[in-house]
Amino acid sequence: MVKQYAGRRGFGTFVGGLFIGLLFGGCFAHWAGSNEHAAHAQERQTPSLPALVQETKTLGDKVPDQAHAMMDVDYHFTNLWFAAKANNWPLADFYWKETRSHMRWAVRIIPVRKDSEGREIKLQEILQAVENTPLAQLKQAIEARDGKRFEAAYRFMLESCYSCHKASGKPYLRPQTPARPATQIINFDPQATWPK
Ligand code: HEC
Repeated sequence: MVKQYAGRRGFGTFVGGLFIGLLFGGCFAHWAGSNEHAAHAQERQTPSLPALVQETKTLGDKVPDQAHAMMDVDYHFTNLWFAAKANNWPLADFYWKETRSHMRWAVRIIPVRKDSEGREIKLQEILQAVENTPLAQLKQAIEARDGKRFEAAYRFMLESCYSCHKASGKPYLRPQTPARPATQIINFDPQATWPK
């Protein structure tokens, strides 16, 4: 999990900007609201520049990395397979939505990557294409509650996951149809009663 990507730095700058904005916004509100304590409060509250830089770095470290967001995609997409196998279509719909939102989140963290030859790979555009066709077909199969269509659409989606990994210079990240659910705690049985 390499951490030094332009996208991450961009996000760090954004978070840093937000932080500085909040800080000055806060100071201004304080100054406007209470002149009496303003001088003392500012002395106490305004951190030095090195402290600000450190704070920005700390915030940057708290933004999860792309691989982490992809591990969430793995989790949701794995469970999706078993929800559909169990004909639990509301649960399948839930995992479909989680898969989509975590893929979007992953490409927001690093929208553009460089391949091994230094060419720019626009992940956002690849994801858009994935959403338009394989992911949309999967949604239609879930809405139709059609297990056979679902299986075909799921496999098509797995190929699409893999296409993006190959485009990103990571051909060794080869997904497969899962053998076991990723969750232990969720009951896939749509007829399950509670408590068991
Ligand atoms: C738009 C591009 C794109 C799509 C679509 C995509 N991935 Fe990824 N995925 C990546 C990239 C890039 C990485 C490597 C991230 C890194 O190394 O920081 C990755 C990494 C992963 C990892 C490894 C995470 C780890 O560190 O253990 C898994 C698992 C994964 N993806 C699963 C999936 C699955 C499942 C799908 C489809 C449902 C999918 N991905 C769709 C780009 C994509």
